Amino acid sequence: MMRSISVRVTRVRNLVITMIAVAGLSSCGGDMKVTAPPPPMPTAMLNANPASINSGQSSTLSWSTSNATTITLNGAAVAASGSQMVSPTATTTYSLVATNATGSVTSTATVTVMAVQRLTYNTDIAPILNSNCIMCHSGPSPSAGRDLSNYNGVMAVVTPFDPNSRIIQMTQPGGAMRGFLPDQVGMSDKNRRWIVDSGAPQQ
Ligand code: HEC
Repeated sequence: MMRSISVRVTRVRNLVITMIAVAGLSSCGGDMKVTAPPPPMPTAMLNANPASINSGQSSTLSWSTSNATTITLNGAAVAASGSQMVSPTATTTYSLVATNATGSVTSTATVTVMAVQRLTYNTDIAPILNSNCIMCHSGPSPSAGRDLSNYNGVMAVVTPFDPNSRIIQMTQPGGAMRGFLPDQVGMSDKNRRWIVDSGAPQQ
């Protein structure tokens, strides 16, 4: 006589069921092996925001995974999801690897570090000041006592790397000297980058 039973296996990986003869069923017996299905492939998603930075700035890596038993970010164990700030000094690709018994999935994100153009007083700034500022800011009695016709005079209103440098305040939007620049956006931005990004070098 044929009889069947059904079993529902959810977690056990290898289960051996031994059927025993019950009274009146003389020909019943044997082993049955039940194998749970393998877990689905893990998923992994890694993002960098912003994807490009200047050297010295930072980007936030954020990630999420599913079905993974082991998760690493550039080789170091991390939680199933999370975020982390990074400040690479050169373009760097980060990899998130999510692994389980079925396999492993990698997601990568690249943070591009942009080269900062080095601006100098001699090449980039003196021409702007000479054309637009020194008619008032030079000579025996320069306006506001500020002689902007030479590097040392300009450095009296500049602090290297400081975005609050006096000359930036005066030429940024709302600044009293901005109107003297024929290209207000381009020239004031160049002046700011010379100070803040390049450190206001003479040459
Ligand atoms: C028409 C004359 C004139 C021109 C052109 C001029 N300035 Fe001035 N500047 C002045 C006067 C007057 C003052 C003082 C009054 C004030 O602060 O508004 C001054 C003040 C300043 C100060 C503040 C100095 C301090 O000690 O706080 C800075 C910095 C400055 N100017 C930069 C510039 C730059 C950069 C340019 C060119 C884009 C420029 N100026 C063009 C007349 C001028």
